[in-house]
Amino acid sequence: MPLDNKSFNYVRELVLERSGIALDESKGYLVETRLAPVARSYECNSIGELVNQMKGKVYGRLHRATVEAMTTNETSFFRDIHPFESLRRDILPELVQKRSDSRTLNIWCAASSSGQEPYTLAMVVRQHFPQLANWKIKILATDISEEMIERARAGIYSQLEVNRGLPAQLLVRYFLKDGLAWRIKDEIRETVEFRVLNLTKPFPPLPAMDLVFIRNVLIYFPIKTKRQVLGEIAKTLQPDGYLFLGGAETTINIDESYKRSSFGKTVCYQHPRSIDAGALAT
Ligand SMILES: C[S@@+](CC[C@H](N)C(=O)[O-])C[C@H]1O[C@@H](n2cnc3c(N)ncnc32)[C@H](O)[C@@H]1O
Repeated sequence: MPLDNKSFNYVRELVLERSGIALDESKGYLVETRLAPVARSYECNSIGELVNQMKGKVYGRLHRATVEAMTTNETSFFRDIHPFESLRRDILPELVQKRSDSRTLNIWCAASSSGQEPYTLAMVVRQHFPQLANWKIKILATDISEEMIERARAGIYSQLEVNRGLPAQLLVRYFLKDGLAWRIKDEIRETVEFRVLNLTKPFPPLPAMDLVFIRNVLIYFPIKTKRQVLGEIAKTLQPDGYLFLGGAETTINIDESYKRSSFGKTVCYQHPRSIDAGALAT
């Protein structure tokens, strides 16, 4: 049954309010495709019925399932490759030198989806920086979607998923065959901490970050929300740390206080504001 305007508007407002994701008028088909399975799994005959079950009720399982279904979780290992090459070649060597006294590195992957991005970061560190074996390295991976965080924590990927971007050498080195799938080894899995975190709500206390990857999520937010999220991230980013955005994302015309830095084909950003240490946990 086609989606009526009132139901579409209800979903649109719910998703915007809870996740920051903006669905314009043209996204009716997307709402239908994504919410049909949710309606079925909650034994509703239509999306209209699903909406009626949510209206006027406190935010609960059904609302959460609806918001999660409207997130786009597309990702892959070594997505867009260049940021990871610049990280290995230029950025990590620089940070390793600067942090040689504290021997600490904090890395945040702030929209980690099913985990390929934070595991890529963990593999780059393990594979290319063996001298960091005794350092305190924290890789925090967060996403709004509980389902994605659970998937990521499990660290199990299909053949198709490992075929997308993961070099064969790293597949053999860091994964174990598990039936038809591949399971990431504990030596990598255990170096990443996964947590649910909504970027559009006040952040919990976080350590000062040396690297923040927040790629391919700002594109879904209206400009006001992009600005708010970039402002919050600036408070967690070390002044000599680096922010990475997706290939179609920028801080330009959104938050001009970030400074662009280019490394080959990679553009990343630094924020000169000094960290308000009192606001951050260690
Ligand atoms: C397209 S994926 C990007 C994954 C990965 N960063 C990459 O570039 O491959 C976008 C992710 O952002 C998450 N997301 C959407 N809105 C969010 C929010 N308000 N807070 C945190 N994560 C959010 C989605 O659940 C989804 O997993």
